[in-house]
Amino acid sequence: MLKGIAGRTAIVTGAAGGIGSATCRRLHAEGANIVAVDLDQAGLDALVAELGDRIVAVRADVTNPEQTEAFFDTAVSTFGSVDMFHANAGVESTVVPVANFDIADWQKVFNVNVLSAFLGASAAVRRMATQPDGGKIVFTASIAGLKGDPGVSVYVASKHAVIGLMRSLMKETGALGIRVNVVAPGPVETRMMRPLEEGLAALMGTDAAGFQAALSTAIPLARYAEADEIAATAAWLLSDEVPYMHGEVVTVGGGLYP
Ligand SMILES: NC(=O)c1ccc[n+]([C@@H]2O[C@H](COP(=O)([O-])OP(=O)(O)OC[C@H]3O[C@@H](n4cnc5c(N)ncnc54)[C@H](O)[C@@H]3O)[C@@H](O)[C@H]2O)c1
Repeated sequence: MLKGIAGRTAIVTGAAGGIGSATCRRLHAEGANIVAVDLDQAGLDALVAELGDRIVAVRADVTNPEQTEAFFDTAVSTFGSVDMFHANAGVESTVVPVANFDIADWQKVFNVNVLSAFLGASAAVRRMATQPDGGKIVFTASIAGLKGDPGVSVYVASKHAVIGLMRSLMKETGALGIRVNVVAPGPVETRMMRPLEEGLAALMGTDAAGFQAALSTAIPLARYAEADEIAATAAWLLSDEVPYMHGEVVTVGGGLYP
């Protein structure tokens, strides 16, 4: 068992998706209370049915300030505190060169990937700062937050922004007892990779299967990650196992980076 998770309360956004649901499962198995946040009601219902007790699902849009405050209030009114926050909800961009980028796509990606991280961080810090044990925040960025690739500049820029937010936030919160870190996955076996594979394959004149095979070959561990491998790292950072880790970008990429 990871130290410092049992009996504490975690908010996880994107909880109906691949990595978010895996983090909910892992933190729940470690004994945490879970507030699972997503737009996907059916996915949330399935997660609640699976986990049973110590979980509350909130259908909310993480880009909305009032809804964000409301799911933080739900955590405190239901379980008494917010000790861990996994800011994980995110969307992929369409695959397109910068010369043809689409403003509507930029706004959607930056709202979901960046604005939501600011809203959630702000709500978390205001609550955690008043708690005797402070708290922990983990953002899901990406290896795309550390390097660029053609065709995915909007997604890449959004994940660089998440890392920039974390690097400023951690300097504000260290003295408040709030540890802040980023988990930065490489390719993970979730829904999100499918449209990216299709778009990048088209850009490179191959098909999605060919692109997936080529990308897997480029990864030293020769495969995509499973979502629970990212969840394990997020849970570790949210636990008391690593009390001196603060301001870190922990890549989980099977050797893809650097
Ligand atoms: N899959 C990968 O290869 C990969 C790699 C690196 C980083 N990531 C990041 O991991 C995180 C999770 O992605 P995933 O792979 O689990 O994808 P996913 O599509 O399975 O999950 C994303 C979840 O976010 C939810 N969501 C989207 N917009 C929302 C909104 N406005 N409000 C509330 N919920 C919203 C979706 O409903 C979905 O359940 C994302 O931030 C993503 O950028 C994924």
